[in-house]
Amino acid sequence: MSAPKSAPKSAPKSALAIRDLVVRYPGLDAPALEVPALTLAAGEALLVSGPSGAGKTTFLNAVTGLDGRGQGVVAWDGINLIGLSEGARDRWRAGHVGLVMQDFHLFPALSVRENVMLPQRLARWGRLPPALRTEADALLVRVGLDRPQQRAGTLSRGQKQRTAVARALLCRPGIVVADEPTASLDPVAGHAVAELLVGLAANLGASLIVASHDPVFAARIARHARLEGGRFVTGEGDAA
Ligand SMILES: Nc1ncnc2c1ncn2[C@@H]1O[C@H](COP(=O)(O)OP(=O)(O)OP(=O)(O)O)[C@@H](O)[C@H]1O
Ligand SMILES: [Mg+2]
Repeated sequence: MSAPKSAPKSAPKSALAIRDLVVRYPGLDAPALEVPALTLAAGEALLVSGPSGAGKTTFLNAVTGLDGRGQGVVAWDGINLIGLSEGARDRWRAGHVGLVMQDFHLFPALSVRENVMLPQRLARWGRLPPALRTEADALLVRVGLDRPQQRAGTLSRGQKQRTAVARALLCRPGIVVADEPTASLDPVAGHAVAELLVGLAANLGASLIVASHDPVFAARIARHARLEGGRFVTGEGDAA
């Protein structure tokens, strides 16, 4: 996928280093998450599984800086998200992370294209380079959507998640993070979304972290880590 001239540049490749991460929530005696050490090489993919309440979303919120309450070090290319202000984390995330969640978070009255471009429109105060629209439409074709003007509210669930995948990848993030991205889809739509997410992240050279139980991800992502009670219990030689 070659970038049009004025499209946003790819973010630099991103490597993750976590040390002594502890996340506590009010009202819970034990930490919700404890990760003594975990590293992810730039461009590497990691699949995180584990039972409900094990801390998967807590982990993703820490590595994306959505939640900055932890103690320890969560550093992407030497930038420790813990200790940054919320505004600084938001700015860092806007430039580095493409997020796909279980719920699509689309604006139903906006077109598919407008939904894909909305984060960039907000980040740039509405001034968008014309090439971004071309880039958005090209991405939509890549994810199998060829009607960019269709209202998002009229899409099928699978198509909604494909739109969310395109939105996450539009700024060519160095990091792609997905929290149960296929959990609300039927198996066929989920399979397609999982293949797209892994394939497009690999094409970008992005580091990829997915929390999911979907066997499609298990088949496509070599490195698996299982969380139980807030700790990685298998698959993580460097995170025991
Ligand atoms: N903001 C919060 N305040 C208090 N407790 C919380 C908060 N967020 C999460 N928890 C608790 O932390 C633990 C881990 O939650 P988390 O959402 O990370 O689990 P999960 O593995 O993503 O589960 P699921 O598979 O159901 O999404 C749970 O016991 C949850 O109730
Ligand atoms: Mg969760």
